[in-house]
Amino acid sequence: MQGNENSLKVESVSKYYGYGLLGLKKFKVLDKISLGIPLKPPTIFAIVGETGSGKTTLLRIILRMIKPDEGVVKYKGLDVFKLPRNAVSWYRKEVQPIFQDPYESFNPLRRVDSYIFDAAKRMAKVDKGSIEEYVDGILRYVGLSLDRVHGKYPHEFSGGELQRIAIARAIAARPTLILADEPVSMLDASLRVNVLNLFKKIRDDLGTSIIYVTHDLATAYYIADQIAVLYRGSLVELGSIDKVYENPRHPYTQLLLTSILEPDPKISEKIKPLKLSTIELKEFLAQGCKFAYRCPYASKKCFEKEPPNVTINGVIVKCHLYEKS
Ligand SMILES: Nc1ncnc2c1ncn2[C@@H]1O[C@H](COP(=O)(O)OP(=O)(O)OP(=O)(O)O)[C@@H](O)[C@H]1O
Ligand code: SF4
Ligand SMILES: [Mg+2]
Repeated sequence: MQGNENSLKVESVSKYYGYGLLGLKKFKVLDKISLGIPLKPPTIFAIVGETGSGKTTLLRIILRMIKPDEGVVKYKGLDVFKLPRNAVSWYRKEVQPIFQDPYESFNPLRRVDSYIFDAAKRMAKVDKGSIEEYVDGILRYVGLSLDRVHGKYPHEFSGGELQRIAIARAIAARPTLILADEPVSMLDASLRVNVLNLFKKIRDDLGTSIIYVTHDLATAYYIADQIAVLYRGSLVELGSIDKVYENPRHPYTQLLLTSILEPDPKISEKIKPLKLSTIELKEFLAQGCKFAYRCPYASKKCFEKEPPNVTINGVIVKCHLYEKS
């Protein structure tokens, strides 16, 4: 089962959630998101945004765990919510998730090697005779071995080891795309780089594309080829990581960058600190630009009118500052 395009495309996807008494009022947690992730050549695509920006919601939609209210997700040209029955298991094999907390990804009462054997047998269709060798090879690829893992339960591993086992489970299925939701945020700093390097290796050796979700622009810059910056469910900047990192144009991307580089007092003094509890909903419901309440360049128009998507040097920026008059 395969369409003829080599990409995952998210086309104008919106998702609403309820809030308030009985959840009857709605806010748009994702607002007309459009992006494309190439599968060939294999690409690491970072989705960056602070907490509550809609990153996990977007991944869940791509994984078919929740339906969007508007828009479509196409994988190799096929609408993932209209797959014929026999294509659903194909899609589950092709697109593998890795979650933030490895201890929550495994049943505490189930031996971890069984997950990798399952993925090898059911998804990669590895035959009985070679399955042990296959599983051992996968575990060695992530820095472990079948001997080291055999018969053990999740609590017998450190967080870093268990995240490697989660990665082994994902690649054992021979996926084309991995969706990794904050996969290093719960690991010690010393282990993070190892896991990030492993993602690069997977892209280069196995030809697998990876969507890497993070709140941390520095790790995105370290591994990604392309980046999408999300703010309150809006895609505010999209392009190649080098271009965006060298010359961030959206004021929110500039803020993210100043938080990891030498702080630029000119920008950081002007940008108001974020108080999520008080302004999160207000921003989600904003008529105009969702960043206007914090943006040092906000004008009256920014509060009233949704900014356009402007393409500059191949990068899409959603901001009135770059609008051609
Ligand atoms: N089932 C739900 N019902 C109502 N609101 C929800 C639901 N799931 C998420 N939200 C809200 O939607 C917004 C986006 O949530 P989401 O988990 O997608 O963000 P995120 O970018 O992944 O955040 P984090 O970095 O904290 O993981 C948040 O305001 C969250 O509270
Ligand atoms: S549209 Fe206006 S408020 Fe929004 S980021 Fe651009 S300048 Fe700031
Ligand atoms: Mg999340």
